Amino acid sequence: MASSLLTLAIETSCDETSVAVLHGEREVLVNLVSSQAELHREYGGVVPELAARRHLETLNPLIEEALAESGVGLGQIGLVAVTIGPGLVVALVIGLAAAKSLAYALDVPLVGVNHLEGHVYANLLAYPEVKLPLIVLVVSGGHTLLTVLDEQGDFRTLGETLDDATGEAFDKVAAYLDLGYPGGPVIDRLAKSGSPDAYALPRALLRRRDYDFSLSGVKTAVIYLVEELRRQKEEFSIPDLCASFQAAVFEVQVEKAFRASRELGVPRLALAGGVAANSYLRARFEERSAAEGKEFYSPPPALCTDNAAMIATLGYYHAGNKRPEADPYSLEPEPGLSM
Ligand code: KG4
Ligand code: ZN
Repeated sequence: MASSLLTLAIETSCDETSVAVLHGEREVLVNLVSSQAELHREYGGVVPELAARRHLETLNPLIEEALAESGVGLGQIGLVAVTIGPGLVVALVIGLAAAKSLAYALDVPLVGVNHLEGHVYANLLAYPEVKLPLIVLVVSGGHTLLTVLDEQGDFRTLGETLDDATGEAFDKVAAYLDLGYPGGPVIDRLAKSGSPDAYALPRALLRRRDYDFSLSGVKTAVIYLVEELRRQKEEFSIPDLCASFQAAVFEVQVEKAFRASRELGVPRLALAGGVAANSYLRARFEERSAAEGKEFYSPPPALCTDNAAMIATLGYYHAGNKRPEADPYSLEPEPGLSM
């Protein structure tokens, strides 16, 4: 790939509209994210039709803004990358339609990108020195899985959640406690002044030898615990509850990630996805890595949550690997795409 190639990337898989322009392999000229969190707040979760409409209204102006801010003319774009899934089908089609039109009008290659793999590539974007193989815990609003990036573009999934995704469990617990939406960042903040040992909550599948996770039990345990405390008219501390919930969820994830590192002989680990922004999770990974002499990577928070820069990075790599679609106009959204 030309080291001066300019990639324009579009991300509309869920409730963030994002446009990035990447110069070469990793120089992010601009990475604009327009969040719809405010729009969905009153519903306590993302409403697909509202998300789609907002993407439609936001995307074109955002593309113009990204070009203006980066000082790049449309005619200079050499590659268009777009998220094809997983995500909300009604949201994905908006990004895809725009990407197809742009690539057609500019007569440049178009490449479809897996959103989850994009989250992993945020690490390669942020840390040029990272070597492979790399064990990655992908934790987002829609997914929770443990994977190994063996070589560029080559993922091997070790295990995943059997029910809720981590971000989803955070959002549901926060909604139950009336803490607002999205719940992850609120729980993270409140937990800082709480004790992780205050309430005993289940560590699901901790002792099982596989790499799967289960989040619905701990979420339900929090709800039952609060109902019981309320029934008995006992005072309880929200910060303690948040800290105990986080500790229960992440203890299992940290244990399994480091067990995978040992068993597979891979001395480096990374976090990816929106929940990777969690300060408690990062701290536990940092501690364990230092204690076991392992390398640990975690993208800066702006690259953890949904953004188009990560999509541009993986798109650039795919294009170098001759993966633009033979007929890019046949690209369809793949809402259930896995890694
Ligand atoms: O990756 P992402 O931006 O969107 C999806 O692809 O799902 O992840 C969004 C999820 C939300 O559930 C949000 O509550 C969670 O990431 N999240 C966090 C934190 N920041 C965002 N969860 C825990 N702690 C955080 N600091
Ligand atoms: Zn995501």
